[in-house]
Amino acid sequence: MLKLGERLMQVASFVPSGAKLADIGTDHAYLPIYLVHQNKIAYAVAGEVNQGPYQAAQDAIESYGLAEKISLRLGNGLEILKPAEVDTVSIAGMGGGTVADILAKSPDITCSLQRIIIQPMNGAALIREWLMTHGWVICDEALVKEDGRLYEIIVAERGWAAEIDSILYDVGPVIWLKRLPLLKEHIEHLLFQHKRVLMEMDASPNAKLSSKYYSYVQKIKDLELKLACL
Ligand SMILES: C[S@@+](CC[C@H](N)C(=O)[O-])C[C@H]1O[C@@H](n2cnc3c(N)ncnc32)[C@H](O)[C@@H]1O
Repeated sequence: MLKLGERLMQVASFVPSGAKLADIGTDHAYLPIYLVHQNKIAYAVAGEVNQGPYQAAQDAIESYGLAEKISLRLGNGLEILKPAEVDTVSIAGMGGGTVADILAKSPDITCSLQRIIIQPMNGAALIREWLMTHGWVICDEALVKEDGRLYEIIVAERGWAAEIDSILYDVGPVIWLKRLPLLKEHIEHLLFQHKRVLMEMDASPNAKLSSKYYSYVQKIKDLELKLACL
């Protein structure tokens, strides 16, 4: 039986039972293999844009005897899907900017989905803002630690989101609302990253005059305030 790490286990837990799932950027296809094996879903599409990971996925799907239940497709993002072919998409292990590009490039497919599960490697604020300004509500989130690294998982469903305090694009509105156990560590990590950006900008007089510089100064103040509330 295939065992997933904490990160992909949490992604798997957000896939509704009986979902018609497409896992985009599937690499070894571990997520769809696990979900079909568990009988949580009957069928999945697995998408990969690169030949090496596509081959790895093909080998894994065949070795688990699941070629009839997992349709592996080579192609970019959601372009491998027909509208309404699936209701749920998972995209794990890519940058937030890449995920936003993938969703924006295939509006017919994106609009036909009910749920999107994203585990960004960076740029979580960017993908949250994209979702909340394109007809999606963040309905759940998780923080997972695996091999010493913190991962954010974002679950979105169709709907119009209420306006939020802009620092919650960074922290995660549900992560904050639920006061998840790893929240303090998550905010401390964001502070560390934002302070590092500011330090780099400090070296350039032009950068210090930019609006980006002041937005980071403000983010750091807002994060320190959030930390003080815990
Ligand atoms: C770091 S791996 C993550 C694999 C797996 N989803 C996980 O979370 O363990 C990212 C994968 O996404 C694939 N990828 C990157 N951009 C993609 C795109 N536009 N469409 C489909 N796959 C993509 C890469 O080839 C790579 O295999």
